[in-house]
Amino acid sequence: MKPLNLNASLMISKEFEHVTLIEHPVIARDLTILRDVHTQTSEFRAALKRIAVILAYHALKELPLRTFRIKTPVRETTGYDIDQDIMVVPILRAGLGLSDALLQFIPDAKVGHLGMYRDEQTMEPVDYYSNIPAGIEDALILVVDPMLATGGSATDALAHLKKEGGQHLRFISLISAPEGLQRLAEKHPDVPTITAAIDEKLNDDAFIVPGLGDAGDRYFGTT
Ligand code: PRP
Repeated sequence: MKPLNLNASLMISKEFEHVTLIEHPVIARDLTILRDVHTQTSEFRAALKRIAVILAYHALKELPLRTFRIKTPVRETTGYDIDQDIMVVPILRAGLGLSDALLQFIPDAKVGHLGMYRDEQTMEPVDYYSNIPAGIEDALILVVDPMLATGGSATDALAHLKKEGGQHLRFISLISAPEGLQRLAEKHPDVPTITAAIDEKLNDDAFIVPGLGDAGDRYFGTT
């Protein structure tokens, strides 16, 4: 059986070199569930969580390891543990839908929270909450938000974390608009980004097209 090349027509241009697009048949199926206007809250949550696990797997792929000796029931061998402090920072609210998947893999990670919403008139982010734990300087900081639209929220969040002392940052999103990736590349070229989809464009209301609507509202059932 021939696998579908789902993104055959998609070219990531040179300016998006720091962007990793994760392609996977399960993502393609689950993104369809998320995009579908008829999908109910419970199904939406389940599909988002499944994609989040795949994104988390890729985001953690290059973690450094330390080795030590362990004993199996048969003999001694080399054991491994992750040799990196990690901080997960969901951008509230929708980012919470992605952060649990990361914590499944790294249950001892610290979690910071950044509260932001997009002003419906200006489309610029408004900060309303920040709680960043100590240890940010040395941690690998994984900032998560399912939607990268204009990129305002992500660029502000990353700037805030850099100001607090963060040095090693990654941004993880579910769906990105080219406009948001452009803004991220300009403002934070040092921050690698992982995404499961690069959509076509933003519409006049700065919604991602085709997108999936408002991820926070659909995940929390607040529409
Ligand atoms: C959405 C989304 C991002 C932001 C993306 O949040 O979850 O945080 O908008 O848009 P941007 O790239 O143009 O900044 P929203 O304001 O809907 O808040 P919510 O997560 O509480 O629903």
